[in-house]
Amino acid sequence: MPHTLIRGGTVVGPTGSTLADVLVDGEQVAALLRPGDTSLGADLAATAERVIDATGKYVIPGAVDCHTHMELPFGGTNASDTFETGTRAAAWGGTTTIVDFAVQRTGERVQDGLAAWHAKADGRCAIDYGFHQILGGVDDDSLKAMDELVTEGITSFKLFMAYPGVFYSDDGQILRAMQKARDNGSVIMMHAENGIAIDVLVREALDRGDTAPYFHGTSRPWETEEEATHRAIMLARLTGAPLYVVHMSAKQAVATLAQARDEGWNVFGETCPQYLYLSLEEQLAARSEEWGDFEGAKWVCSTPLRSRAEGHQDELWRYLRTGDLSVVSTDHCPFCMKEQKELGRGDFSKIPNGIGGVEHRLDLLYQGVVDGRITRERWVELCCTTPARMFGLDGRKGVLAPGADADVVVYDPAGRTSIGYGKTHHMNMDHSAWEGFEVAGHVDVVMSRGRVVVEDGMYHGSPGHGRFLRRGLSAYLR
Ligand code: URP
Ligand code: ZN
Ligand code: ZN
Ligand code: ZN
Repeated sequence: MPHTLIRGGTVVGPTGSTLADVLVDGEQVAALLRPGDTSLGADLAATAERVIDATGKYVIPGAVDCHTHMELPFGGTNASDTFETGTRAAAWGGTTTIVDFAVQRTGERVQDGLAAWHAKADGRCAIDYGFHQILGGVDDDSLKAMDELVTEGITSFKLFMAYPGVFYSDDGQILRAMQKARDNGSVIMMHAENGIAIDVLVREALDRGDTAPYFHGTSRPWETEEEATHRAIMLARLTGAPLYVVHMSAKQAVATLAQARDEGWNVFGETCPQYLYLSLEEQLAARSEEWGDFEGAKWVCSTPLRSRAEGHQDELWRYLRTGDLSVVSTDHCPFCMKEQKELGRGDFSKIPNGIGGVEHRLDLLYQGVVDGRITRERWVELCCTTPARMFGLDGRKGVLAPGADADVVVYDPAGRTSIGYGKTHHMNMDHSAWEGFEVAGHVDVVMSRGRVVVEDGMYHGSPGHGRFLRRGLSAYLR
C-alpha cells in the first residue's frame, strides 16, 4: 500500500498537542513520528510516496458528526441533502464520519425502517457512516429488534418525548426501551421536550394569530425542555440505562443534567453550533426582501433557538468547558426555503424543523478556541474524539494513533473561512443558516481512510468510498 507522510504539523488530540509527522499506510495511521524519531516508521516515512506539508498547521483526527438526518421525511417533505450531497458537504468541512438516524415510523417494522436507510446510503457516501435507530413506536416487536440491531452495529436508539402522533413515545414506552438498553448495552438518545404541553401552547399561539416563525420558539419555552430532560433522567435512573440527551439548548435543562452527573448518574448531553451562536432575538428580527419576516423560518428547529438576554449561549459554552456537555454535533436537517420551509408560511407549526450545518461544525467550534472559550484540545475532543467513543467507534475514529483509520484533517489556524456567502457552501440548500459568518481557521486537507478527499480547494472524493460502520458498544458504559 502507498505511504503518505503528513509532515511538520502540530498534532492536536484531546489530551495534548505535539509536533509530529503522521505516517499513513494505506487506509490506516501507521505511526506518529516526533522530531528525531529513528524507529522503523521513520525509515518508511523517508520513502513515502506522497508528502503533505502541514508546517504551521494543526493536524487533527477527521471530525465525527454523530447527529445528522439525510433525506429525513419530516413535515410532509424530505430533508434536502441526500447521503451523496450531505456526506460530500461534510467532507468539505473536515467531517469524515457521520452517524445518521434510521427511522422506524409508527406502525412500521424497525428492521424495514433500517433496511430503507441502508438502501438510501449504500454506495452513495463520500465518507464513512453509521446509523442510530429512531424508534417510532416501542412495543414487543421493536424491543426484540433492539437486540438484533445491536448485533448489526446499531448500538444507540433515539426516542422522542416530542411530536405526538409522529415519533412520540410515552413514559411507559421510554421505560421499557431503557430497560432493554440496560440489558443489551445500547445507549438511549433522547429528544427531550414535553411535546404534549407544546402542542397546547402551539395551538394557543396560532389561535392568537401568532403565526410567524419566531412563535415556534416561544411556544417551546425552556420549561418544556427542562421538564422533559428531568423526566428522562429520572426514567434512566430507574433503569440504570445510559442516557444521551440530544440537541440541548436551554441552560436550565443542562443544569439539571449537570446535577445528575454530579450525583454520579451516567447521563450525557449534546449541543449544536446553532444553540451556541444564534438566538431567538435574531430570529425575531430576521427580515429579507424575498421572505419578509418569514426569513426566520431558516432557523426553525427543535429544540428551538433560545434568548440571548436570558444568557443560554454563554452558559452552553461554560458547560462545554466543565464537561457537562460532552459532544457538539450539528443535527444537520436541511430544508430549502422554497417549497419546504415555505410550507409553513402563515402557520409556523407547518415549517419543517431543522437547520443544515454538517459542513460548518469544525470551523464554528474553532471560533471557541479563537475566542478563548475552549482549548484547541477540547475542540478536538468535542468534535472528534468523544463522539467516536460515545458511539462505539473508539480506536477507529476520532483519534490519530497507530491502527486508527487514516481520517485526518490539516487545519490552518491562520486561514479564514466565509460561511454561507453567495451559496458557497456545498449542502443542498438554497440558503445558509450561517449567512455572513466570517471565521478564523480553514480546513486545508481532508483525508478519509487514507484517501485525500479535499485539498487546495478541490474535491477529490466520490460516492461509495464511504463504508457502513458496524459500531461497538459505547466506551461510556458502566
Ligand atoms: O429540528 C430538528 N431538530 N429537526 C431534526 C429532527 C430532530 O428532532 O432531531
Ligand atoms: Zn505499505
Ligand atoms: Zn430531535
Ligand atoms: Zn436530530
